[in-house]
Amino acid sequence: MSDKLSQRYQRIYDQIQVLLKDTEDKIAKMATVSAVLHHKMPHFFWTGFYILKNDRLIVGPYQGSVACLELSEKKGVCWSGVLHKKTVVVPDVHQFPGHIACDSRSNSEIVVPLKNKEGSVTGVLDVDSRKFNAFTAVDKEWLEKIALLI
Ligand code: SME
Repeated sequence: MSDKLSQRYQRIYDQIQVLLKDTEDKIAKMATVSAVLHHKMPHFFWTGFYILKNDRLIVGPYQGSVACLELSEKKGVCWSGVLHKKTVVVPDVHQFPGHIACDSRSNSEIVVPLKNKEGSVTGVLDVDSRKFNAFTAVDKEWLEKIALLI
């Protein structure tokens, strides 16, 4: 099971790497990453980016249902990824203090921080699933690799 998932991620990673060569523009890259991941990963229900601007997390390119436009209160899963500068895997979002429910159908979530060359966080890659406990160490490993391509 996790071997199959790794192989799928490897194929997606290779495809994204090729596609992203066409531009230096970060928004175009984020749009492409969210589209490829969302359409190739059946367990992804919402797939996208929040961008850190003036101490606010503003929604960036995404695929899925309409999301919260701003996450400004330093709470929830995305802010946790920003503040701790680490990937956050949440098996049950209803148990996560301060979780922001943009869509009540989401039940688990993974947030991977994006960093610039200096190591400062510039935003997050955020994926929600309707399944509980949808994200494993395999998702974490590959989404972290993919985030480095932005
Ligand atoms: N659940 C996130 C908010 C963004 S949505 O999942 C698209 C959070 O708690 O930060």
